Amino acid sequence: MIRKMTIDDLPEIMILERSLFGSPWSEENYRFEILENPYAHYVVEDEQGLRGYLGLWLNEDTLQITTLGVASSHQGKGLGSSLVKYALEYAISNKVLIMTLEVRVSNAKAIHLYEKNGFEKAATRKQYYSHPDEDAILMMKTFEQM
Ligand SMILES: CC(C)(COP(=O)(O)OP(=O)(O)OC[C@H]1O[C@@H](n2cnc3c(N)ncnc32)[C@H](O)[C@@H]1OP(=O)(O)O)[C@@H](O)C(=O)NCCC(=O)NCCS
Repeated sequence: MIRKMTIDDLPEIMILERSLFGSPWSEENYRFEILENPYAHYVVEDEQGLRGYLGLWLNEDTLQITTLGVASSHQGKGLGSSLVKYALEYAISNKVLIMTLEVRVSNAKAIHLYEKNGFEKAATRKQYYSHPDEDAILMMKTFEQM
């Protein structure tokens, strides 16, 4: 089940975040996203415990995927795909024209997931990441909304 992320989810989110990312966001980052960022829409995959999460920023006709993670123990079961599908549906229902995201150049699994869902590589952002230092690929998907 995919539902909105709440403040009560933060302890579990922080455990996942620190296990999945070399430069994890802080709890304060998530707190700001949930409580104060008017552009933010954060959801979790919850089935008797948090198994994944997705962050989005909606700014007029542009939607950015800010984060996506699935617990290591539950990867490879389609949860990442269902969270990306949720993002695509959110884009369509909000009449978005373009979706963007950044991903590490070495993250073949995530790149495959995004390409499978119609995202294309648009540009490289040099030295975008730290821990370890790495370039980002900017990926985009455009929509023709009526
Ligand atoms: C990326 C991530 C969200 C994918 O979640 P998931 O639940 O494992 O995704 P799915 O089970 O839906 O599988 C995604 C696809 O990747 C494929 N895949 C698995 N390992 C792969 C690899 N090493 N290289 C390429 N593709 C791979 C799967 O086969 C599947 O494709 P398919 O449906 O065509 O078979 C998850 O791996 C994750 O949380 N990674 C750490 C955090 C991260 O990198 N987030 C992305 C930030 S941009």
